Amino acid sequence: MKVSVDRRDALAVAVDVAVSGVFERGAKETAFPKSLAAEDTASGGLIEAAWDRGEIRGKRKEITVVHRPGGQGRILLIGLGLRSKFDADVVRRAAAESVRALKGKGARGVGFRLVSFVADGTTPEVAARAISDGAVLGGYEFLKYKTQADRGVEEVAIHLGEGLVRSEADLKKAVAEQASIDDVVVWTRERANLPADTATPERLAEEARALAKEVGLKVTVFDEGSLAELHCGGLLAVGGGSAHPPRMIVLEYAGGTRRGRTVAVVGKGITFDSGGLSLKPAPAMANMKFDKSGAVAVLGILRAAALLKVAPRVLGVLACAENLPSGAAYRPGDLVRTYGGQTIEVLNTDAEGRVVLADALGYVVDKYRPDEVIDLATLTGAEVVALGDDTAGLVANDERVAAGLLAASRATGEPIWRMPLTDYHRELVKSEVGDVRNSTEITVAGMLTAAAFLETFVGTTPWAHLDIAGPAYTTVTTRKYQPAYQNPGAVAFGVRLLARYLQDASRG
Ligand code: BES
Ligand code: ZN
Ligand code: ZN
Repeated sequence: MKVSVDRRDALAVAVDVAVSGVFERGAKETAFPKSLAAEDTASGGLIEAAWDRGEIRGKRKEITVVHRPGGQGRILLIGLGLRSKFDADVVRRAAAESVRALKGKGARGVGFRLVSFVADGTTPEVAARAISDGAVLGGYEFLKYKTQADRGVEEVAIHLGEGLVRSEADLKKAVAEQASIDDVVVWTRERANLPADTATPERLAEEARALAKEVGLKVTVFDEGSLAELHCGGLLAVGGGSAHPPRMIVLEYAGGTRRGRTVAVVGKGITFDSGGLSLKPAPAMANMKFDKSGAVAVLGILRAAALLKVAPRVLGVLACAENLPSGAAYRPGDLVRTYGGQTIEVLNTDAEGRVVLADALGYVVDKYRPDEVIDLATLTGAEVVALGDDTAGLVANDERVAAGLLAASRATGEPIWRMPLTDYHRELVKSEVGDVRNSTEITVAGMLTAAAFLETFVGTTPWAHLDIAGPAYTTVTTRKYQPAYQNPGAVAFGVRLLARYLQDASRG
């Protein structure tokens, strides 16, 4: 979707649909709001009449469409809810709801009246960025396997009008930047949505090579032979049961400044998680093509870093394997020797994410000595139980990294929540026969014992772990409770978050 800034008022130009936000009217509010005067005039008085009838109340998700006289296009009014609860995420949702409502309705070009989305809770720049997010992400659908599909909105213009035109240059820059981040999110969703027969570990390696060539990154792919030479026993064990062998993929963005810090971003890339010999029941397996979401997000994050030319040097590591049962599969009871020599006692082959991450974390910390490591992983069902479908769990051993991620979360609207990591969790992952066990004896705090396990492999490097099991994807059922900018399927959670984090690192 193309997103641009137009200095003129949306009501003064030829556009299929002009979109304005409407705040919810208070209990005693009967007078027609002045803020809708321009829309009312353009509609020839239809909007005030609809208001008087009680058709327009401004409640969230409320959509009213009026046709302007003389075939001058439509006006879509989108409810914003109460002024007291207004913020950027309300705008993000409203833009997505508008674009989605117009799908299959003959609207190609849509113009948002920016002024109607600027109030306490936003600024012109914040609102314009949120419109880009909502329109691009809300308009996205995974259509690769649909033989027929309705056309949706193709072009979005954010209209400034008289009141905002003096900020045109700044707003153009902000919207161009945000729209390019949103394009990266769409690019990431397209890959994260691919089914496991297509998105094999080698296919992810091909995607990484193509990306590296396109945006100028260094790429190294370790196949099963080179993984054996590196002693990456975790990846080899987990990938052993599949006909599609494991890969570890390393991408490197050199950084925008000579002596910037090095941030390593590591992703869990299980292209399908059947559970292995500790087989999952069928319903729990249905969405396990999304178990590669962390790794695919790392591809998107590196793409964003290169396109935005962020200051830090960024390393991306994708730990890719398919977890299937077979005569060659790893088993409960196996002892796996990881990259750094530490051993894992496997007690449940379904706790495979931490086993592949052990190699990837150990490798990147040892080989590159980064200033900080951030991993993204659809790691535990316990995360979904604790925080739900929308929020990622954050565990960190470093206050600065944690604070930076929490600030980026507030700015982007990608929710994360910090959780504790204590000696109690560390005690639970100690093994009697090896160094750590991949599954605990008592099932408590599953998100945190998994984090304690990972911590073993980063040593003292500043580290943050994002368990994205909940927010990585939506399904047709969870979708109804999620914002409209998340269609069924992959969310590409973490791309907007980490892009913001790396940009903030460029400033601070
Ligand atoms: N990929 C799953 C976690 C998951 C569950 C992601 C639901 C997204 C939605 C992970 O590999 C897993 O199976 N973890 C086990 C660990 C347990 C065996 C210690 C879990 O959470 O049950
Ligand atoms: Zn699993
Ligand atoms: Zn998994």
